[in-house]
Formats: sequence, structure tokens, C-alpha cells
Amino acid sequence: MSIFYNESTKTFNLTAGSSSYCMSVYPLGYLVTHHYGKKIPDTDFPHYEIYATRTASFNPSRNGGADCFTMDTTPLEYSSFGTGDYRRTAIRIRSSEGNTATDFRYSSHRIYAGKPQIPGLPSTYTNCDNEADTLEITMVDKVTGGELTLVYTVFKDINVITKSAHLKNCGEKTFIIEDICSAVINLSSPDFSMVNLYGKHNNERNFAFNHLSHNRQSIISRRGASGHEQNPFIALVRDGSTEESGDTYGFNFVYSGSYEMGCEVDYFDTTRVTVGFNPEQFEWILAPGEEFFTPETVLVYTDGGLGEMSRIFHRFYSNNLIRGRYKTEKRPLLINSWEAAYFDFDEEKLVSFAKEAKDLGIEMLVMDDGWFGHRDNDWSSLGDWFVYESKINLQSLVKRVHEIGLKFGIWYEPEMISRDSELYRAHPDWCLHVEGREHCECRHQYVLDMSRPEVVDNIFEQMCSVLSTCEIDYLKWDFNRNLTEVGSATLSAERHGELYHRFMLGTYDLMDRITKKYPNILLENCAGGGGRFDPGMLYYSPQIWTSDNTDPIERLAIQFGTSLCYPASSMDAHVSFCPRTGFDVKGDVALWGTFGYELDPTRLTAADKNLIKEQIADYHKYYELIRCGDLYRLISPWDGKRRVAWEIVSPDKKEALVTVVSTRYVTMERFFLRLRGLDPEKMYKNSANGKVNSGAFLMYSGINLTYLPCGDKQSYKVYFEEV
Ligand code: GLA
Repeated sequence: MSIFYNESTKTFNLTAGSSSYCMSVYPLGYLVTHHYGKKIPDTDFPHYEIYATRTASFNPSRNGGADCFTMDTTPLEYSSFGTGDYRRTAIRIRSSEGNTATDFRYSSHRIYAGKPQIPGLPSTYTNCDNEADTLEITMVDKVTGGELTLVYTVFKDINVITKSAHLKNCGEKTFIIEDICSAVINLSSPDFSMVNLYGKHNNERNFAFNHLSHNRQSIISRRGASGHEQNPFIALVRDGSTEESGDTYGFNFVYSGSYEMGCEVDYFDTTRVTVGFNPEQFEWILAPGEEFFTPETVLVYTDGGLGEMSRIFHRFYSNNLIRGRYKTEKRPLLINSWEAAYFDFDEEKLVSFAKEAKDLGIEMLVMDDGWFGHRDNDWSSLGDWFVYESKINLQSLVKRVHEIGLKFGIWYEPEMISRDSELYRAHPDWCLHVEGREHCECRHQYVLDMSRPEVVDNIFEQMCSVLSTCEIDYLKWDFNRNLTEVGSATLSAERHGELYHRFMLGTYDLMDRITKKYPNILLENCAGGGGRFDPGMLYYSPQIWTSDNTDPIERLAIQFGTSLCYPASSMDAHVSFCPRTGFDVKGDVALWGTFGYELDPTRLTAADKNLIKEQIADYHKYYELIRCGDLYRLISPWDGKRRVAWEIVSPDKKEALVTVVSTRYVTMERFFLRLRGLDPEKMYKNSANGKVNSGAFLMYSGINLTYLPCGDKQSYKVYFEEV
């Protein structure tokens, strides 16, 4: 068992790989965190005294002041609002009397093998019960009758713990949950910097690194989507750490809607991390007997810096989050029609793409936006998921593409509705709206009210009528605007605070139904590029369109940022016609992700075609290495150098692929690149010059790239193989 409970000290020690999470129950029933970090064996701690203050006036206490315990400085594992802790708390309930004083105390616990799923929500999973153990701690608020269960799943062989909570109303009166966190983590010092991934449409997941100070530093989404602006991920990096060393904690919220994550350093120099819904956009009414489940948070600890933290996330998400046929099966190499034709296509044009693509070695044609309703531009037809017959005959098109020898993919934007659509004309109240208020326009479209079962059913049926009649191999699920005027025609007035979360539950329900009914379809998520690149979406779709920005130099920062948390197999990356670089850089950058094309294949020169054939050969050669290998960020865009470099090493350390891209004009400068992650004892052959050197040499001395990349070639790729 990876979870140990010491009955005499009432202490839990959770061991995940080489990390430990320790907490105990204080005599008054408070749950106190002792340690989260490197593995320790202890189950007896100096307890709460170390957190107690010696002043009575401003530090609320219990026990009649008999000891110095105060809720205000103690690292409470799941702290309640309004009863003595003035920091950001984990839970706030408004009772039927209207007050918000909340007080949950330990009542019992149970430990079992395996991991429970969370009803209605995406979450990580175990492949067998032996992989992880779960601890459930039940806490009770005796005034409201709330029974709260904190769920900890401890993965035995990898430094991962997941946390979530659920709350049942065991009382006699209805209450309102105003705030409920998925996870709280207390660390005993403030000597950390917080890393977060900020950005915007076309420029997602930039790297931000800011030292903590005595305040709250947080990231937030108010968009009803995780958003381009802040990914639901933060890391805490202890002072003095490097990319490959030092205490590093990563937290990722398995949710695709509005959220808030942040760190607060209190006046006693402890750091509290909280992860949960955005409390500005959340409340939930819980009647007697009802239960509410939070999404889960994935926690990673390592003393191996951000590099090792990323590799842990990558392994974990590849094994324990991504599901379905394409978790392991090789994914078809695709060409997408969007940047090739936008809305301007018909059946013949797509067939001509398919023929050219087949000659190049491409395996799937994806028909993007523009095939339904009367969609010739982005002003119409969302919600009308029937074929635009004057453009294409879908059955004939699919048949012809299959006969050419390619698979066939299709685009949907299921949560959206255009004002110019049959669906809107028939059901103008089916979109999120507020009577009497003007709609905000974003890309000329509105958002469907996914809290309504009849809306979800209608879109599901419409999608099925296409997916069940044509042999579709792939589906791109887009989401091209965020939520505004969040009102529902059917939800009662008092329940409107639930609407943001109900929207997500409706979306997840639709994704669940589609993926269950069509398990052979490869689902790809997208939200104007990477506007919902989060683990909630990865649960349904093994890959996500990383960004609408396909310029490979811009993509470097986007992909480096994305790689902090998400594996290469999830980063959809295409070669396009963007003008700034040659095909070599485009190919090398896209190779780090899923790899594919986003261009008109009938416009290629003979030279381009030859290059593409070489790229496709590389794609097949390195497919397993890139999908299963360990990533090392050798030089990151945020290091401010003229080059960036990354390396992927196979798990058995027999192979490695190193890519270097110059981002600015490289003046004459001595440049040795030291590799990482190899076996120092093994001998490796450099595919570029045939030289054989030890892993030790390659890592500690380095390869001389003083003149590389050079000339027209902005990118240099070298493969090492054990000899
Ligand atoms: C979004 C996507 C693009 C494309 C368009 C179609 O912007 O990110 O890849 O699918 O929608 O409208």
C-alpha cells in the first residue's frame, strides 16, 4: 500500500514514487498538512505547535485558548471559510439561514486499491487496481449537515497524486455551495517562483516566471473555457532550481471551464496553493440527499526541476489520461483543408487534394469548416449540421477519398449557433442569452445553452445522422468564442449561478456520448487553436490543435510552453505555407508534435514535394521515439538565446533526436550543445557525421554546432543511435 495510516499519531503518509504527502488529524478534528515533497518515512510529526502563534487577539483559536493552535496560520488541509482562517479557504457554504460560516472537521477515512472515476467529469484513471491506492477522508460540518469527502489517489510508481472533493447534503435543509476547491496544497516556506502559461489567440502558452511575495498570485479564467489567456497549470519552483534540478511542484486542473488557481503567502511565511472553480462564476444549490463533485487536480512533485516535472506529466497523461483506440495505435498522418481552401471548396477540389496527398504519402484528408448548412463564410449555419449539397455530396466524397486510399475527417463546432441558421430560427432561445440585453458578437456566432438536455440531444442526433451514414475516421471539435450573457431560458432564477458549470457538464456529456458511440473516430479538440488545451479535453481527444499560428518560429515558444505539461503526442502541429521560413524548419518543428499538413497540395513545386516526402519518411522513422520518448528542453525560447534546441531520448536510452533552430541571424559564435538524458556508458553514432562517441562525451563535453544551423538551413536535426 502506498498509503499508510498511523492510528496512534493519527497521521497519513502517502508515497507516490519518490514523493511523500503527509498530514494528520489534530484532536479538534482539523486536518493539518505536514509535508509535501521528497519522500520521507515519518508518521509522527512535531504537529501543529510549529504553526501556532503566541498572540491571542487576532488569531482565532479553539480549545478555550488552552494551547496556541490557531486556524489562521495552521496549514489546514482543506480549510473552511469564516471560522478562523482569514486566508483563501477551500470551501464556503451559505446555509439556509443565509450565513457563510463553514466548519468541516474530520470524521472518518477509508483506504482502498484503485481509483474512482468522477461522475460526469473527465479524470485520470488507473489501468489496473495495482497501479494506485485511494484515500478518502470524510469531514463533516455539523451545522449544515454537509458531508465532505476528500479523495486522494496515490500512484505508486510515478510522482503523481490526484485530488478532488465531493460534498453531500446529509442535513435537512438546502444550502448553497458558494466556493469549493478541487485541491489545496500547503508548503512550509515562501521561497518559490510561480510558473504559469499565459497568452492569447495565435500566441498561446508563453512562459511566465515570478517570485512569490506576501500576497496572492493567481491565474483565472472567466471565459467559460480554460482559454488561450492562462492555461489551467501552475508550477512552483524552489529558489536555486534549474531546468533539471531543484524542488518543483506542478498542478494541473482537469477542467475546461472557468477556474482559479493561485498561491498565497501568509504573514507566517507559509504558501497555500488552491485550485478550483472561479468563485465569481460558481455556486451550486444542494438539497438534502444531493451530492456535488469537483473536478480533479493532478499534483506532481520532483527534485528534478521543470524538466523532470514535464516528463512526469507526459508519461502520466500518456498512460493515465489519454484513452481510446489512438492512445497507442499509430495516428493517421493528415492534411487539413483549412489553410488550403478556407470556405472555398467543393467535392472536386477536395478529391484533387486527396489524390495529391496520397502521392506524397499522406494518410488522411480532413475537410474543415464550410461543409454544412449554407456555410460560405463565418456568418452562418452553425447548428445546421446537414450537408451543404451544392458544395458536396458527402457520401460520394467519403467514398472517393477512401477509394484513393486516404481516411476521411470532418469538422464540427457543436456548442455554437449562428443567427443565420435554421436551428436559431426554430429555437432562438436555445443560445445563452439574457432577455432584453444585446448579444456580444464574437465571430458572428452565439453559444448554445449546453445546460439544456434537449439542446445536447438535438446536436447529438444531428451529429449522429452524419457520422452514422458516412464512414468518418476523424472529427475536429472546434470552439471559436467564449461565453457572454450567460443566461438560460429554462434554468430557474436561483440556479443561474450554476450555469457556467452546467454548460461544461453538458459539453462533457456530448463528448462522452460521441466518443462512446464512435470509438473508432479519432477526436481532435480545438478552440480557435489552443483555447481549450487542458487535461479535461485530453480525456476525450488524444490530440489538440495547438495554435492557429502555424509560423514555425512563433510555434517554438508555443510548443515549448505547451510541453511544460502536455506530451508531444497531444500537440497537433502542421506544416503550412507561411512565408517566413523554409520547409525544413516547418517540418522539424511540426515533427515534435503530431505532424501533418495544412496547405494546398496541388500548389506544390517538385522541390517542395521531394522535401515533403523526406519529411514524411522522418515522421515514420521517429514516430515511436517522439511519441514515447523523454523530452529535454536544451535551450528554451525564454532563455533569450539565438537558438532553441530540444532533444527526445527513447525510454531505453538507445536513441535520441536533437533539433536546433536558429531564431535570429546566427553570428559567428562558438557553440557547444551538451545533450541530456543519455546513458554515459553507451556509445552513440551521430547520424550527421558518422562519429561515434560515448553518452558521457555527448552530455558532459557536447557536440560542436559552431557553424550549425547555417546558410539557408535555419534548422538542424541530428539523430543518435547506440552502436
Ligand atoms: C478555428 C480553428 C481553425 C479552423 C477554423 C475554421 O479557428 O482553429 O483551425 O478550423 O476555426 O473556422
